[in-house]
Amino acid sequence: MLLVVSGGIAAYKCLELIRRLNEQGIKVRCILTTAGARFVTPLSLSAISGERVFGDLFSLTDESEIGHIRLSRDTDLVVVAPASADILARMAAGLANDLATAALLATDKPVLIAPAMNSRMWDHPATQANLCLLKGRGIMRVGPNQGEMAERGEAGWGRMAEPAEIFQDIVAFFGRSNRLKGLRCLVTSGPTIEPIDPVRFLANRSSGRQGHAIAAALTAMGADTTLVSGPTHLPDPTGLTTTHVETAREMLAACQAALPVDIAVCAAAVADWRPAEEADQKIKKQSSHGAPALRLVENPDILATLSAAGPKRPRLVIGFAAETQAVEENSFLKRQTKGCDWILANDVSAGSGTFGGDDNTVQLITAEGSERWPTISKQAIAERLAERIAETMGTAS
Ligand code: C5P
Repeated sequence: MLLVVSGGIAAYKCLELIRRLNEQGIKVRCILTTAGARFVTPLSLSAISGERVFGDLFSLTDESEIGHIRLSRDTDLVVVAPASADILARMAAGLANDLATAALLATDKPVLIAPAMNSRMWDHPATQANLCLLKGRGIMRVGPNQGEMAERGEAGWGRMAEPAEIFQDIVAFFGRSNRLKGLRCLVTSGPTIEPIDPVRFLANRSSGRQGHAIAAALTAMGADTTLVSGPTHLPDPTGLTTTHVETAREMLAACQAALPVDIAVCAAAVADWRPAEEADQKIKKQSSHGAPALRLVENPDILATLSAAGPKRPRLVIGFAAETQAVEENSFLKRQTKGCDWILANDVSAGSGTFGGDDNTVQLITAEGSERWPTISKQAIAERLAERIAETMGTAS
């Protein structure tokens, strides 16, 4: 594991964290930032970890022996504790102006942050916006807690989580991270857009949040994941391959190129129809002709195609059903007509807040029956689904 220690009074707590991790057999290699070195010394970190401590991006000996790229890849997990407001801002902006941020930018491994800062810095909209961005990229977080600050008489949110809490999250990560190791997953996400002419297209309201969260949750369990996404405003999750597409036909081609996979989750809101012709030039408004007619043709059904892929059929194919009425009944039917194994059914009727919202209420429809999940965040649904997938693949293999 790679531990990045940035500047903050809580830096001393990472000594206790390293000791616990070592006791558990987890080897820790440290990067100490310049500000971090004001609070804890390289000597104490290397004494506790039993490893040399890295700090300088431009150290010739470090770069020749082990560069920042290798440092960030030769690990299963990167933990930033304490994560100061400054390092969070630099991570969010993609800066690489010291060894810690260069390694964080270069890594293809999951990242866990343990923020620690004064409560006003924590509450500041800039910090909150950075956290939001980092969360969107699949970065995990533990804490902060509420309590007294280092500054006398100040209290609030911003105290770094205790070493025991960070330790627990790391151990849980390693427990989870092996469950889908060696398995390949394909996830579709977002809308597709279907061109009418060079400037106009048909689209839908899918934000891609559910699909992206599922791809990130499967990756967090160790799956080798390909995310095929239509246009969204979301950043690409880290640690997996994202293929960007626009139309349903491009999405199908990208999915077929990703085969064979063990698990396919079709969470994209694929346009059912596309304009029969795509005009080469922008269609002109001609008042004498009235509005042009839009003739539609059916798009390929990606879920049904993957479910019928013959020898390349994934062992587990999961689809979504977005229904506005008779959700359970229609979803049972959909499971059969599409030929998939599971359907996650949700209600997208007006007022349900599903499209673009944070939360979702779903039912899992399998060959055995249906199971209603409570209203939880899309992130929690993704984690619960990944958990169910791991259980099933575990018993199936
Ligand atoms: O048929 P309907 O759009 O309701 O089915 C929804 C499910 O089918 C989703 O899992 C969606 O990703 C998938 N789908 C697809 N290709 C289509 C239409 C839907 O993969 N053309």
